[in-house]
Amino acid sequence: MDFSLTEEHLMIRDAARDFAQTELLPGVIERDEKQEFPDELVKKMGELGFMGIMVDPKYGGSGMDTISYVLIMEELSKIDASASVIVSVNNSLVCYGIEKYGSEAQKETYLPKLATGEFVGAFCLSEPEAGSDATSQRTTAIDKGDYYLLNGTKNWITNGGRADVYLVIAQTDKDKGSHGINAFIVERGTEGFHIGPKENKLGIRGSDTHTLQFNDVKVPKENRIGANGSGFRFAMKTLSGGRIGIAAQALGIASGAYELALKYSKERKAFGTEISNHQAIAFKLADMYTDIAAARHLVMQAAWDKDQGNNYDKSSAMAKLYASKVAMEHTVEAVQIHGGNGFVKEYHVERLMRDAKITQIYEGTSEIQKIVISRSVLRD
Ligand code: CAA
Ligand code: FAD
Repeated sequence: MDFSLTEEHLMIRDAARDFAQTELLPGVIERDEKQEFPDELVKKMGELGFMGIMVDPKYGGSGMDTISYVLIMEELSKIDASASVIVSVNNSLVCYGIEKYGSEAQKETYLPKLATGEFVGAFCLSEPEAGSDATSQRTTAIDKGDYYLLNGTKNWITNGGRADVYLVIAQTDKDKGSHGINAFIVERGTEGFHIGPKENKLGIRGSDTHTLQFNDVKVPKENRIGANGSGFRFAMKTLSGGRIGIAAQALGIASGAYELALKYSKERKAFGTEISNHQAIAFKLADMYTDIAAARHLVMQAAWDKDQGNNYDKSSAMAKLYASKVAMEHTVEAVQIHGGNGFVKEYHVERLMRDAKITQIYEGTSEIQKIVISRSVLRD
């Protein structure tokens, strides 16, 4: 393993850090309060190449590696995890899903717009009755010759209200179980496709989460991704890459909270000295620093595995499991280090604490990551 960063990686990281400080930070509290989707910022991220980080330049992408992707995700997430989940879904679920498994026509039609931020993508797997248990899809897509007839409901879909392109996973043959599932590209505005109300959430409130309803939606045959019956494996493989993005998001949330706590502890005085001089606070910082470094290694390992062409199902699950735990535990500690101010919005750590929780839930809960890891360990 060699995780040393190249000059290019450092430049990309610095560009993301600069963008987060100058563009994301100023309105982040207001967007969180108002549950406001950052339309203008998504456009700017598109211009910077952040919406199609790993997409081949021939489809309008930035052609960067997965290490670059996690560096960008970490920097954006230190400041605004709502913006970073938009980036994560667009890059590692939608762009990657189409580029890796789509037809040439699908790539040419959708990638140039998705990779530049002109279009936003959504990935629609979860349903009211099928979240962790993703093979028990209720949404059906019946083969009608030239088209599939799509019916059903998808729940908690990120970018749900704002996307232009929706990757929808649906059952085409119940008797075939996970082999009777397919993935489809559904465009916004297709007849029978309805976007439900926006969810009012604990965290990542600037991201847009909706229920989607499909009532007799006609999906052209050419919009199916990959071979007939490959939709579940498509979802699982795509999610393995998505989990690297969410692990990097969790890492960013944790390191953002750590940086704020470190600074505050050196400024705030109690009992005649800076609170960092109290060992109880210094030890919290030591634990945070150590755990964040360990999480970063796991995130880098997973990104490196993907870049090297190794299997990354297990390493991405390990990175997500551990980084999300670190994010949750240490954002709570960052609030504690801030005392009363930690409870106040302008100090940012309370938002990071609220945002951290989702990293243990979406793209597979922590319990699901343990299923993936334990199955792999037992099999190997
Ligand atoms: N690669 C290739 N094939 C895979 C695979 C992988 N990573 N994982 C499973 N498969 C295959 C299996 O080999 C099996 O094939 P065979 O029948 O030919 O043997 C088939 O798929 C079914 O697999 P399992 O028997 O393992 O299925 P399962 O019902 O036990 O479920 C699971 C496995 C890991 C729990 C899976 O259901 C899962 O990951 N659930 C979580 C779903 C999830 O992560 N949802 C996230 C939604 S997107 C999101 O959340 C986005 C966002 O927030 C921003
Ligand atoms: P359930 O599956 O009902 O699980 C409930 C609890 O039981 C969890 O703790 C779970 O870990 C545990 N559990 C379940 N099965 C087992 C088991 N076998 N062993 C041990 N424990 C188990 N989905 C998408 O498809 N696309 C998106 O863009 C998307 N974005 C989201 C954004 C937000 C803000 C949220 C909240 C969710 C989003 N989701 C999205 C859905 C998310 O992926 C699911 O919520 C998640 O996979 C868990 O499914 P569930 O909520 O149905 O929980």
